[in-house]
Amino acid sequence: MTIHIGAKPGDIAETVLLPGDPYRAKWAAETFLENPVCVNQVRGMLGFTGTWKGNRVTIHGSGMGMPSLSIYANELIAEYNAQTLIRIGSCGAMQETVKLRDVILAMTSSSLSTPSSGIFRELNFAPCADYGLLRAAADAAAAKGVTTHVGGIYSSDVFYDERPDLNEQMVRHGILGVEMEAAELYNLAARHGRRALAVLTVSDHLLTHQALPSEDRETGFGAMVEIALQAAFA
Ligand code: ADE
Repeated sequence: MTIHIGAKPGDIAETVLLPGDPYRAKWAAETFLENPVCVNQVRGMLGFTGTWKGNRVTIHGSGMGMPSLSIYANELIAEYNAQTLIRIGSCGAMQETVKLRDVILAMTSSSLSTPSSGIFRELNFAPCADYGLLRAAADAAAAKGVTTHVGGIYSSDVFYDERPDLNEQMVRHGILGVEMEAAELYNLAARHGRRALAVLTVSDHLLTHQALPSEDRETGFGAMVEIALQAAFA
């Protein structure tokens, strides 16, 4: 057990999918895994371990934002030996060419700051995805016929942004979408020699101000879980 995860040693698989929402973790585990067992309920942050095509997988909530993700990813890596960590979540699109329900595979993630900023100080470290996972996810998405974009994203510290000029600069520099977790996941994976990727479904659009109705989110989310699972075990 760790401070935030009640799982026993060995309860967590080497491959961990990280949705922000704990109830999404429950839904994904019950929908895609065989024999899912709840391994964590501390603070309502649910985690489940089961198998997918004979491979052990844990699906565990990360919470919203990099400070929350950092707690779970640190403990999963250091205490439970997680080797492959794939964020599955939603994002806001930042380019006209990116549409609602499209999938974004985050090759890199820019940010104003991350929980690792204290380590890097004046250095602008470039957090990036594991190339093997990225390539496998792109292949899996293409095979499923899902419209997919591969490129840079922006991991924001805030959802309610009081500095729209930052978003404008991200749009200007070709950033595909905004979310709030991937940059720190990539930092931690780099620091500990683990594989990481963020697979994101576009749930809203910063330029057109469209948003997916909540009933549509589950379908898009399912495709993303399958892409992540196929990439992890390619
Ligand atoms: N996640 C989904 N949509 C988002 C947005 N517009 N900003 C930040 N995170 C998001």
